[in-house]
Amino acid sequence: MTGYEEREKRTEWFREARFGMFIHWGLYAIPARGEWVKSTEKISTEEYNKYFEEFNPVRYNPKEWAKYAKEAGMKYAVLTTKHHDGFCLFDSQYTDFKSTNTKCGRDLVKEYVDAFREEGIKIGFYYSLLDWHHPDYPHYGDRQHPMRDNEEFKDIKHNWENYISYFHNQVRELLTNYGKIDVIWFDFSYDNDRLSGTEFEHMSGETWRATDLVKMIRSLQPDIIIDNRLGGDARKEEPDLHSGDFVSPECMMPATGELDTLGRPVPWELCLTLNENWGYAKNKPWDYKTTENVLHMLVECVSKNGNMLINVGPNAKGEFPKDSIRILKEIGEWMRVNGDGIYGCGISEFSKPEWGRYTQNGKMLYAHIYDRRVGGFRLEGLEGKLKKARILEDGAELKLTRPWNGEDYPEDAYVELDIAGLYDERDTVLELELL
Ligand code: GLC
Repeated sequence: MTGYEEREKRTEWFREARFGMFIHWGLYAIPARGEWVKSTEKISTEEYNKYFEEFNPVRYNPKEWAKYAKEAGMKYAVLTTKHHDGFCLFDSQYTDFKSTNTKCGRDLVKEYVDAFREEGIKIGFYYSLLDWHHPDYPHYGDRQHPMRDNEEFKDIKHNWENYISYFHNQVRELLTNYGKIDVIWFDFSYDNDRLSGTEFEHMSGETWRATDLVKMIRSLQPDIIIDNRLGGDARKEEPDLHSGDFVSPECMMPATGELDTLGRPVPWELCLTLNENWGYAKNKPWDYKTTENVLHMLVECVSKNGNMLINVGPNAKGEFPKDSIRILKEIGEWMRVNGDGIYGCGISEFSKPEWGRYTQNGKMLYAHIYDRRVGGFRLEGLEGKLKKARILEDGAELKLTRPWNGEDYPEDAYVELDIAGLYDERDTVLELELL
């Protein structure tokens, strides 16, 4: 098999699943100013450690989290096992800066794995390549290290190989100690302008020893899929080993789907916050997207052969924010009766209509209607192509008709929508079986 064919096989479940939950959780839930607070406020490790001493998520119940994900219709989840602040939510033998050493004394990752696996949700681990706690990660001059401008760190030598061993060993732990893992989500590669000419100029690819890392990953978890943030380009005809199995646009919808240089579809996943923050935010500006907005973005991703990973940032007590729960429940209600228009679907052979979007799964075409428009509902270019039409959510028949005022558009098909509005103003889905 070619690299492309292997990737297609590896990502088959991922392209079927279409919809997942991202969870950003850690010490930064206490300051509640987002997961970058240590960097943005240039907090020293000594100062930041007070959150480590305090962290005690007494209401952490991952079974509850897993139920929210299940009811929202999510098929996989990705939890931050270690974010940029270096705090490990798992019992790593390579550090003391871990959840089992906090007041809670729990391996938070293990409980997450057990709870989500119990709900039949595939397991993903986010792992930060950056580490603002580790002494051997570059400090002074780095693009975003909390001590990037602190002269005290100017002449410190960092033992980079020591950090690489630490990071690779932790990935080995994560892919050895928690059973079958379905996604590993690295974040992120970047350039250091202020360190040009040094080994830290390009924090990507072989600076991470990415090829050895991926070989190790594949030896431990042969079926796992990896994101594209180790560096490299997943869109090349024959991508490098570390280029990843899917492209990971962030809070930015690709104009079209992701294609490789030969024009072949490349798996991709839009990761998205619900309130402009990954980590829990209360003490900084934030506001939540509408459920309609989130639904439309999910449909748009699928209509372009992509997935969507929606983020939740639990608070310091271990609970999802109320607004996140509300949106997840509303999405779940829609997905419960319209999921066939998402799962296993992808780009349609028919171009985007004015009134919404199409998703398609073989002979089943799903019309996602956002705009009712007027008169008999017109399906451009579909005359003679449809076997039958149904309202997806309740299976109600929709008659294929030829209204008198459609005489000028003989190539278009029409269905009778006997209401002035839409059954679901956010997105009414028609299931159209093609001949
Ligand atoms: C960005 C942010 C990081 C977040 C990630 C999620 O890289 O820096 O905090 O985890 O996006 O995609």
